[in-house]
Amino acid sequence: MKDLTPRRSDLDPIEIASRDEIEALQLSRLKWSLRHAYYNVPFYRQGFDAAGVHPDDLKDLKDLARFPFTTKADLRANYPFGMFAVPRDKIVRIHASSGTTGKPTVVGYTERDIDTWASCVARSMRASGTRPGDVVHVAYGYGLFTGGLGAHYGAEKLGCTVVPVSGGMTPRQVTLIEDFGASTIMVTPSYMLSILDEYRAQGKDPRESPLQVGIFGAEPWTNAMRAEIEAAFDMHAVDIYGLSEVIGPGVANECVETKDGLHIWEDHFFPEIVNPETGEPVADGERGELVFTSLTKEAFPIIRYRTRDLTRLLPGTARSMRRMEKITGRSDDMIILRGVNLFPTQIEEHLLKVRGLAPHFQIELAREGRMDTMTVHVEAAEGFSDPGTRAHAGATLQKAIKDAIGVTVAINIADPGGVARSQGKAVRIIDNRPKG
Ligand code: DLL
Repeated sequence: MKDLTPRRSDLDPIEIASRDEIEALQLSRLKWSLRHAYYNVPFYRQGFDAAGVHPDDLKDLKDLARFPFTTKADLRANYPFGMFAVPRDKIVRIHASSGTTGKPTVVGYTERDIDTWASCVARSMRASGTRPGDVVHVAYGYGLFTGGLGAHYGAEKLGCTVVPVSGGMTPRQVTLIEDFGASTIMVTPSYMLSILDEYRAQGKDPRESPLQVGIFGAEPWTNAMRAEIEAAFDMHAVDIYGLSEVIGPGVANECVETKDGLHIWEDHFFPEIVNPETGEPVADGERGELVFTSLTKEAFPIIRYRTRDLTRLLPGTARSMRRMEKITGRSDDMIILRGVNLFPTQIEEHLLKVRGLAPHFQIELAREGRMDTMTVHVEAAEGFSDPGTRAHAGATLQKAIKDAIGVTVAINIADPGGVARSQGKAVRIIDNRPKG
């Protein structure tokens, strides 16, 4: 893999400014953002008033903890445009969540917001090792999902040649990467695995592909998965994080030279970690739920948004801005199996260590009598068809999970291609337990 560390002179000065400078900027922007929300969005005004706080009470960054949280339910209650802080005709773009459960959450952007967002994604891409002039293959979905268009505008802003492929039609993905000479790909890590399978199905060596950088996000993935993809393609695999409620992709990104967690672009998004049960802020370094406040957004200011993503904050390394550790999972995706808490990423970590199994998996939860059961559906890697070898691989995975997590799960090994593939965010959990 090539050294793709960006030159320091190419970074935005704030990325490597002193902590004092960053915090001074955050404080002045935070004052603006709280006022903007309070005076333009009835939801915030009522919430602040009810909590007995006013934007003028914020004298220090720590004072933010006195302001009320915002949750997904609040956004739904204000569907569709109730959270907007500018007149509707100043909104140049709408995105929305898929809304599989209830109403979708709708977000809006002014022209300046689109520019801010593009700058954050461009900065993320530069941190990943992408350079102006590179061909960027965007396989995140285009549409109401923020992945495709978010990546697209960022890549254009950085000065790249964008190929807006979107998800799906996997054979064509491989053809276009090869024919157009893409050096960067932006896609979910789970769909990257499908692209990898397709390379092999077409008899092409992925290590010979033109790809040098993959910017993977929109779902949790592990360092074990990073190692798998980097080895398969001989490319850098870098983590990008974001959520539509905060802006979209480009809230935080890893640096290619360190790959040690994601630097949060703290000049635009102020992070906190809180105890998910009590909502109390916890110190940097302690694990909990990530909460974000936007500092510069016009159309859709968001104050103390509960992301439900679990991680911890760490000091800066390659940049002055703080890092968040790779996300373990969402609190909604935490499985409680016979009293033991676990996340799909823990299964991924162990699965990737077992020879003879492919990296695709799904977790099925069921109930037998009063007992919850869990089956991990995996598949044999190509060339591992012998039943004895498969049984051994299954037993190895089962033991690794039992030893590390403390629960006994069933392992079901399908033929290659037997585990459902997604073309975007992977569905890791199928819950067949009776509701209620
Ligand atoms: O997934 C935005 C995005 C697009 C990020 C492309 C990165 C790349 P939403 O659809 O609103 O937005 O989903 C946001 O996805 O709260 C996390 O639970 C999860 N997520 C996003 N990035 C990561 C990541 C986009 N790098 C939700 N690691 C978030 C783990 C992630 N989870």
